[in-house]
Amino acid sequence: MNTFPDVRLRRLRRTPQLRAMLNQALPGPERFMWPVFVREGEGVAEPIDSMPGQFRYSIDKVVDAIAPVWASGVKSVLVFGLPDPATKDECGNAAADSAGIVQRAVRALKSAYPELVVFTDVCLCAYTSHGHCGVIRNGNIENDPSLQHLANTAVSHALAGADGVAPSAMMDGQVAAIRDALAKEELHDTILMSYSTKFASSMYGPFRDAEQSAPQEGDRQSYQAPYADLDQALRESELDVAEGADMLMVKPALFYLDIVHQIKQRHRLPLAVYNVSGEYAMHIAMAERGWGDLNAMVRESTLAMARAGADIIISYWANQYEKIFQD
Ligand code: PBG
Ligand code: ZN
Repeated sequence: MNTFPDVRLRRLRRTPQLRAMLNQALPGPERFMWPVFVREGEGVAEPIDSMPGQFRYSIDKVVDAIAPVWASGVKSVLVFGLPDPATKDECGNAAADSAGIVQRAVRALKSAYPELVVFTDVCLCAYTSHGHCGVIRNGNIENDPSLQHLANTAVSHALAGADGVAPSAMMDGQVAAIRDALAKEELHDTILMSYSTKFASSMYGPFRDAEQSAPQEGDRQSYQAPYADLDQALRESELDVAEGADMLMVKPALFYLDIVHQIKQRHRLPLAVYNVSGEYAMHIAMAERGWGDLNAMVRESTLAMARAGADIIISYWANQYEKIFQD
């Protein structure tokens, strides 16, 4: 093998033009999906303390917020709803209300931006009084009784005009139940993006503050995947493929890039990563302490997600695309 002094890798790095020619490009804006939080009210854009740059928007304001995002080339959102707390109940029934916060937001977004790709998070935790992602009976988070609620919710989002639904409750069989329910309504074009490999992670803290959806008691370890079991992580995605998912997801993103790579190799389905709230907040916290350059850190971590095999990047950086990626 030829080595130094014949071989000098620094030749390939000598100028910015050479580096730009040889480097893998950052993912373009069209590969980003922006998670947005929608609440009741009018004229409201309430800053989320734990997630600087993110807001809880009333429906009129979320429509306004899309303008610069669309102009930057980001063409897709993932909608999360914050219902009126008075509507929360044991089973999260309000999640499937055709006049619920998500359903109204989807209609408003689609009527203002018909070409915007609108996906919705399908879960019960923001709608249940106890904050768990499924129905509770006798102190147990029940799998099968949760499925109908999730399916009804997904159908109501699709009927409101969502291009895609993204179930995140991690109940077994949820993808099949939703696919079935969509088919019964002849909603054949609705994309089902499963949160297929969603870990019980400690990186969701800022989101739970944003959504006010932390479980009142206990944690989510009996339904979300254990991060220390690779086989289960892979089986989760495999089963969702069998149940009819159109797209898969790994969540969180940065600690699980090996799994992203493996899932992309095994299943040739579009694969999303969810660059979660804790990953967002940790970059900001470091930058605020003067310990790192925010844009540089975000670019480096974003490129890593694409390199691992992510096709779609669900990220809170998406509404700051120009500032961070095109500066
Ligand atoms: C709830 C849900 C969570 C996230 C997306 N959907 C939180 C959780 O599972 O506790 C996390 C998103 C983030 O941290 O950015 N089903
Ligand atoms: Zn949930």
